[in-house]
Amino acid sequence: MRSKIVAGNWKMNKSYQEGLQLFSEIETLLAKQPSSNAKAIVIPSFIFMADFAKQAKNVAVGAQNCASEQSGAYTGEVSALMLKSVGAEYVIVGHSERRSYYAETNAVLAKKTEQALQNSMTPIFCIGETLEQRNSNKHLDIIKQQLSEGVFHLSAEQFKKTVLAYEPVWAIGTGVTATSAQAQEIHAFIRKTIKEKYNEEIAESCSILYGGSCNAQNAKELFACPDVDGGLIGGASLKAEDFVKIIHSF
Ligand code: PGA
Repeated sequence: MRSKIVAGNWKMNKSYQEGLQLFSEIETLLAKQPSSNAKAIVIPSFIFMADFAKQAKNVAVGAQNCASEQSGAYTGEVSALMLKSVGAEYVIVGHSERRSYYAETNAVLAKKTEQALQNSMTPIFCIGETLEQRNSNKHLDIIKQQLSEGVFHLSAEQFKKTVLAYEPVWAIGTGVTATSAQAQEIHAFIRKTIKEKYNEEIAESCSILYGGSCNAQNAKELFACPDVDGGLIGGASLKAEDFVKIIHSF
């Protein structure tokens, strides 16, 4: 059985005090009603992480990004080693906001994925097409390219420790969710592509999350798709009740 995962990507939201309150609410709700079917991950700002990781009981803590280099003169960067050393277990790599606003290329993302794995964290590698790419029927090629350039350099052993997230750019933060049929189609395509590159066993064991306007109302239907193994949640992860409801959608 593949691991089921619900990860809350807080993006650049909340002050430390607000974040701490939200984190405590999530912990309290999960303590009352533990998540037996899915792993819950909270992904706040870098600077909250060390503190949250110390208090975390019912969730794992992850980072939204990491440096592509190991260490040294890279002012302003945060290395995978630093993240691991304060308790991060996961790191998002290649979120579409990083790709578009910070010009992160598949080549840079390939290095970030390596850094995460070398420091014993699980990369959550994001892929997904824009609306323009979908409308011009290029979406499958784009997804295949993101996979081949971003993660297919990994050995089978490394790839087994990687989680993928399909996040159609047109669905992120827009309120327009992919239908469960659209999500299932792409997730099955991703799994087939992994099988062609590695093998069936690796493809079948890879957790592929869906992200993009997933919320407490639509999570159940999306998570019921055979190839959808959970969600990467933005907006809806900023409300404790909604986030926990999504976790319990499995
Ligand atoms: P959203 O964001 O749930 O707000 O659409 C998802 C994401 O960007 O990971």
